[in-house]
Order: sequence, then structure tokens, then C-alpha cells
Amino acid sequence: MKKIDTLDELIATVKKTDNIPTLPKVLSKISKEIDNDNFSIKNIGELMSHDVSLSARILRIVNSPFYGFPQRIYSINHAIMLLGFNVLKSIIISTTVFTAMKKTMAGLSEHSLFCAFTAKHIAASINAKKINNIDSDNMFSAGLLHDIGKIIIAATFKEDFKKIIEIADKSEKPLADIEYDILNISHDYLGYMLIKEWNLPSSIYLPIKYHHNVNLADDFKIESAILNLANFLTLALGIGFSGVTYLEKINRDTLKILDIDIYFIKSIIEEIYSYKDELYIFD
Ligand SMILES: [Fe+2]
Ligand SMILES: [Fe+2]
Repeated sequence: MKKIDTLDELIATVKKTDNIPTLPKVLSKISKEIDNDNFSIKNIGELMSHDVSLSARILRIVNSPFYGFPQRIYSINHAIMLLGFNVLKSIIISTTVFTAMKKTMAGLSEHSLFCAFTAKHIAASINAKKINNIDSDNMFSAGLLHDIGKIIIAATFKEDFKKIIEIADKSEKPLADIEYDILNISHDYLGYMLIKEWNLPSSIYLPIKYHHNVNLADDFKIESAILNLANFLTLALGIGFSGVTYLEKINRDTLKILDIDIYFIKSIIEEIYSYKDELYIFD
């Protein structure tokens, strides 16, 4: 087993591997269109209509009871308008990665989607409770993509990944620490690097970077804490699988940063539990 000594070496190794699914052309075209000053939803909708299964997924998400729109949405242009571009981009990235790598870690897509629902829900509740203005759509994206670094590890360092999962199964150590012991890097940092490279905003990639170390976050500390709590609740409720069998205690820093107590958490659990029946979009 080889330790990666420098970040450059790691990036080179990750880039060299052909196991990581490349993003579909439609994403780069859509990204270009979004970055264009006079982009139009019509053009984006037109680009998306070439990918039937992607369009179907977008419509399934926007029509899920989680979003709770009063009327059924049939048009992809309308769906894009309601979801927003960052969510659209995150769904494209995650469906590409999760469908291509479904066998690598069965259950990760369910874990990620439930975490996305939960993070968005917590953000909305925190906004309602205080004069906060957390972008709950970006929290959805961060939830969906937060563990994508695990896929990179699984695809790039296959043997090490097996070992990491084996150790995690037997020990009471956080997965990110085991990854770090073996690879000198962990999935939170790898995910952050990747999401940054795919041009999503810092309000998405910084919480991903700090989702296991909220106290280290300078910017987007509240967002990092929301993501940490959403991940914790997803694990505690046993939804999906993310390589973790040992449940750590709830993070005290998170409770302090969000200024919440156990009653708030109880009400969140009651409100989110039914989302477990809506995790079919990657099927
Ligand atoms: Fe994680
Ligand atoms: Fe996670």
C-alpha cells in the first residue's frame, strides 16, 4: 500500500485514472450556457431534452412530495426554473457518478439524497427560527455531493478502499480518519477539490470540505454545521450506506454553531423521516 505524499501527486493520480466517470457532454454545454451572461432557460431546457433519462430524473425530483409543489410540473423549463441552476448541476453530476458507480458502494446514492433533503430542510428551519439567510438549495446540492470523494477513493485506490472499509467495519474510528491514516487524504477534501473543479460555488464546496470538521470552517460555518447534522441524522436513521457502521456522537460544535437543542433535532427527525420513501430517483 502506497501513501500519497503530496497533493500534486494525488491530483495527478486521480486525473490519470480512467475509472472516474467523466461528466456527460450535456453538463459542460449546460455549464457554458449558465456562465454565459445572456443565457436562457429555453436553451438549457433544449440541451437537456437530448438526455431523456436525465430530464425524467429532474421531473421526478421536482414532482416529489419533498418539494411539495401544489401542481404537477410537466415542463423541463419550468422544473429548471423551480430548482435553480446549482441544484440542476448537482443532480447532473450526482446521477452521472452514482449510476456509473452504483456497484462500488451500494447505498451511497440513498445516503446522499436523504442527506440532501435533510440539509435543505434544516436550512429552511434555521432560516425560519432566526434571521439567517442560508441558501437552502445550495444546502441540497452540498448534501447530494458531500461524500463524492468516497467514489474517487473507491475508483482510484481500489485495494486501499477495500482495506479502509474492512478497518471501518471493525473499529470505532471515523471513516475519514481511517482514510487519512492509509492515504494521507480523506473523502471530504477530495470531494471539495472535485466540486471546486466543476465550478460550483464556495457555499457548496466549503461545507463539503468541512462536513467532518465544522470547527475548522471560517467561511460558511453554519452551512458546514448543517451538513454535518444532516449527515449525522442520515446515519442515525440508518438510511442508505456510506461505508460507516460506527455512529459517532452528535457533534457538540454543530449544536453550538446552530444554536439548537435536542427538541429542535427531534422535530427535524419527525419532519424528515417520511423522505425515506422518496429515494428512488437514481434507480
Ligand atoms: Fe463524509
Ligand atoms: Fe455522509
